[in-house]
Amino acid sequence: MERALVIGYGQLGRALEGELMGRRISCLVVERSALELAEPERIPERLAGLVGPGTVVFLTAAFTNVDRAEGEQRLAVRVNGVAPGVVAQAVAQAGGRLVFFSTDYVFGHGHREPIPPEVDPSPLSVYGLSKLIGELAAKAADPGCLIIRLSGLFGAGKNFVRTVWERLRAGEVVRIVDDQTTRLTSARVAAWASVELAWRGRRGVWQVGLRGERSWFGYGRLIAGLSGADPELVVPITSRELNRPAERPNYSVLDISRTEVELGPFPRVEDEVGAYLRELESGATG
Ligand SMILES: NC(=O)c1ccc[n+]([C@@H]2O[C@H](COP(=O)([O-])OP(=O)(O)OC[C@H]3O[C@@H](n4cnc5c(N)ncnc54)[C@H](OP(=O)(O)O)[C@@H]3O)[C@@H](O)[C@H]2O)c1
Repeated sequence: MERALVIGYGQLGRALEGELMGRRISCLVVERSALELAEPERIPERLAGLVGPGTVVFLTAAFTNVDRAEGEQRLAVRVNGVAPGVVAQAVAQAGGRLVFFSTDYVFGHGHREPIPPEVDPSPLSVYGLSKLIGELAAKAADPGCLIIRLSGLFGAGKNFVRTVWERLRAGEVVRIVDDQTTRLTSARVAAWASVELAWRGRRGVWQVGLRGERSWFGYGRLIAGLSGADPELVVPITSRELNRPAERPNYSVLDISRTEVELGPFPRVEDEVGAYLRELESGATG
């Protein structure tokens, strides 16, 4: 395996490109203009010639707007659910290997401890369901594929950490839900772990994230503390008060212990968020 194809150039796609280039692995990035996942029937012809024996294909592109997916169910399922199966089949036929990215939102309410990969999913939202369909479709088309579940991603792009930091810098009060607990994941660490797992030939479902769990409000306070902002600007609210279109699980912390046995301990969330905030302050992150 010495060639990689990265589909999608969002937060994770960019981080993967950096990780692969750092390892001197030949890497091609395919953006939406060259591969539209909403047209699954055209995917095989688009991938022809880009994937050969040994190519590792990282499918990062997805319909990632969780709330918008509630009103655009058909599109979300086509992009997140149907397209991954078509990509998996095309990749397997060409002799490559697929790495598909999924989410903690495949899980529903009722969990109180980190959720191991083998627990039965029970998505609450269209987004969560569409990603679960994607997992199943990818696995059905290529049983040897690698599926990596992530949560709370932050990197080059729009994300929770950046938004809170920007609003605190502007002196705004930021109201954040305190009844949803999750794990954050830097795109940098997600990319490193994904390439590592792929190059070790791992298959099946693996879960990746930073050490430490908090509510989104807890992360807001962490960001305030690390960036020197007034922590009182971060105010706890409930999901009911926020009233977003998509329902989210109240506890969706992924159990990363098996991945840590394989790769060693992940960085602590305080350290990784701190490093990211320093990059934002210096203007180093796009
Ligand atoms: N962000 C999170 O917190 C999070 C959490 C758990 C799992 N994940 C999963 O991790 C993966 C990477 O997430 P991310 O944060 O890097 O996403 P992102 O920054 O939102 O980037 C998504 C990429 O997908 C592309 N895309 C969207 N719709 C497409 C379509 N119909 N056809 C082709 N390309 C399309 C986007 O292109 P445009 O820029 O042209 O729209 C963009 O390049 C996704 O599979 C996501 O479901 C993310």
